[in-house]
Amino acid sequence: MSQLGARSAAEAFLTTPAGRNSAHDWLGVLEEVPLFEGLTKRHLRRVAKLARIRRFAPGSALVRSGDAGKSFFILLDGNAKVMRSSGRARRLGMGDYFGEMALLDGAPRSADVVAEGEVLALTIDRSGFTKLLGTEPTLAQALLRTLAARLRAAETSI
Ligand code: CMP
Repeated sequence: MSQLGARSAAEAFLTTPAGRNSAHDWLGVLEEVPLFEGLTKRHLRRVAKLARIRRFAPGSALVRSGDAGKSFFILLDGNAKVMRSSGRARRLGMGDYFGEMALLDGAPRSADVVAEGEVLALTIDRSGFTKLLGTEPTLAQALLRTLAARLRAAETSI
């Protein structure tokens, strides 16, 4: 994911007066996101309808352990720290995503995720996330691969 490409596209999106931007501008942001690699423009447009961009202040909690899951997050710029009650903290950076677990199984959030500096994130709400998983098999496979890797990492850090 190119730092400049994603940041400037996302910043341009955020600074428009209406808060939402045209589908064309959106595609510039989405094309930079590794999770969406391989999706055609038509499919990216489908994602664009479901996603929004949000800015988080340094130190703010994007996700709180124990809360109900409402959104899925992809980091467009900045870093966030995943902090679980047990095990090592994990650092996530640009292009990484989180918040999928509570959306997938309906259980409470498994960890706090805190912005290390200012963070720009793309978010998709629960119903949009569920819709995408049903319509985008490559995306669902990528999420499963990440889940498997996180499970292995969690097991080795116990
Ligand atoms: P969720 O449980 O919805 O909210 C907290 C999120 O932190 C979780 O989804 C994952 O996306 C993320 N997370 C939990 N454990 C790990 C881990 N070991 N490595 C990276 N991310 C994690």
